[in-house]
Amino acid sequence: MFIPFIWVFFIYRLLHYHVTASHIVSFCPLNYISYDNLCYGPIESGQAKFSSAMFECYQNGGGNLTELDTLHKMVYATQNLNIYREYWIGLRDVFNRNSSEGFVWIQNNRTAVHFTNWGTLEPSDGDNDCVYIKHGSASWFWYTRQCNGSAYAFCQRGDEYHTD
Ligand SMILES: *[C@@H]1O[C@H](CO)[C@@H](O)[C@H](O)[C@H]1NC(C)=O
Ligand SMILES: *[C@@H]1O[C@H](CO)[C@@H](O)[C@H](O)[C@H]1NC(C)=O
Ligand SMILES: *[C@@H]1O[C@H](CO)[C@@H](O)[C@H](O)[C@H]1NC(C)=O
Ligand SMILES: *[C@@H]1O[C@H](CO)[C@@H](O)[C@H](O)[C@H]1NC(C)=O
Repeated sequence: MFIPFIWVFFIYRLLHYHVTASHIVSFCPLNYISYDNLCYGPIESGQAKFSSAMFECYQNGGGNLTELDTLHKMVYATQNLNIYREYWIGLRDVFNRNSSEGFVWIQNNRTAVHFTNWGTLEPSDGDNDCVYIKHGSASWFWYTRQCNGSAYAFCQRGDEYHTD
């Protein structure tokens, strides 16, 4: 069958229009806060030990436990958390030192911690090597406990991308 050129052109334009008219939209999953190109949110389905919480974040969009390395990020990204719960963040004393020097942000090549918001008497000594946050007097303070203890996971992950 002979297809006139004008129809070929028209169909081409139609397809081309659809391709160029679609655009990429990025957004965070429901209940996550968008901050500085990442999405921050809790996994509220249950408490877990630190390593399991890390894995839960990984299962949720390839995320990690959060790196709360500035005051602004900590205040902003924690907006959706339940203030009556405790959440693991991605901070751990990987060198087992008895001081705040041993704590590093584990998901970013073990970068040293600069901004901190330790609760009273923290970081505590000994085996309390994993850090969770707990809300008190208008701020989320940082506390340590043994890594096999329980808390909810507070994750950071990439945006989801959709074309429309
Ligand atoms: C991670 O840190 C190590 C030691 O400081 C360094 O050799 C390595 O290049 C770093 N890797 C990345 C991806 O930054
Ligand atoms: C850390 O403190 C505990 C007691 O709280 C002590 O037994 C241990 O030797 C200390 N470790 C280091 C590396 O100082
Ligand atoms: C965590 O491990 C320590 C020993 O390393 C053990 O004494 C403690 O009971 C454990 N806690 C939980 C909640 O399993
Ligand atoms: C999660 O951690 C991995 C490995 O440290 C890193 O490559 C990745 O960029 C991190 N992703 C997020 C969203 O933090």
